[in-house]
Amino acid sequence: MKKRIFSGMQPTNNLHLGNYLGALRNWVDLQQDDYECIFCVVDLHAITVPQESERLAQATREIAAAYIAAGVDPEKAIIFPQSAVPAHSQLMWMLATMTQMGKLERMTQFKDKAGKNTERVGLGLFAYPVLMAADILAYKATHVPVGEDQKQHLELAREIASTFNTRYKTDFFPQPEPQILGAATRVMSLKDGTKKMSKSDESDNSRINLTDDAEKIAAKIKKAQTDAEPLPHDVAGLKERAGADNLVTIYAALSRRGKADVLKEFGGQQWSAFKPALAELAVKELSPITERMSDLLAHPEKIDKILRDGAERADTLARPILRDAMDIMGFWK
Ligand code: TRP
Repeated sequence: MKKRIFSGMQPTNNLHLGNYLGALRNWVDLQQDDYECIFCVVDLHAITVPQESERLAQATREIAAAYIAAGVDPEKAIIFPQSAVPAHSQLMWMLATMTQMGKLERMTQFKDKAGKNTERVGLGLFAYPVLMAADILAYKATHVPVGEDQKQHLELAREIASTFNTRYKTDFFPQPEPQILGAATRVMSLKDGTKKMSKSDESDNSRINLTDDAEKIAAKIKKAQTDAEPLPHDVAGLKERAGADNLVTIYAALSRRGKADVLKEFGGQQWSAFKPALAELAVKELSPITERMSDLLAHPEKIDKILRDGAERADTLARPILRDAMDIMGFWK
């Protein structure tokens, strides 16, 4: 059986270097002949926190543009908005009936987002992982590239698939495997190397956005956190030096080299020498993406066509799987 990949990103704020190196670039690498790739813009997940209705469609186009600009090929991969394929919500409801609340309460992302305010959080935030399970299972996806923070949700998706299979004495849903390509690159904040680079950090200097121009990228790297020591000669020398480690990690990831190899070249040098080299590399790698993205965004009708076409292809795959699941559950038809 051909491997089927499913993954998605939320149309919230703009994407940054962490999304690119940690996720998007892996997706691009996965587009090989023996993989069928489905990349969703998960707008139904986005509304688990309030979104401005004037912005949602445009944010969806922007994420799709980022996928394409980063190298996802809409001829090969399916790119579509989650809300355009009804099977996601429908299957979610069916799966919700076989998901224990206790399991959802243990999700660390829910606990983080809900905080102490559990009386007032929306049901959508609580049920978020069930929708994610439906996303994956609606296509019987076999492989799911996700970051560390989504592994717990994927584990739950596997459990939900098993619950369905056990309850209905079937092997209908395959167990989706987490797909972590190579060493997943964890890109940290440029201001604090112990925190993940995040779109919700209030300091824009903490991240490199995929929409930043060359000047901005260079300025942010120049201000990035380091320490007084020069670059070490080996990876062990990065221990307890989070800011330093982060910049070397970024350099290694962008150049597709190992950290040890990068340190062989730069070990002993000052940050004032390394940072311009890193800025130059980042600009070289990111500017083609930024340019393609703004070209695409100047022609929203092109993006819309890709999304419509993708939604149709996705619907064609998901609809019969949903119907089969409904048949297994015994619904009228
Ligand atoms: N929850 C994922 C995130 O925030 C996005 C997502 C939604 C997803 N559905 C998915 C990822 C299905 C993989 C598979 O990163």
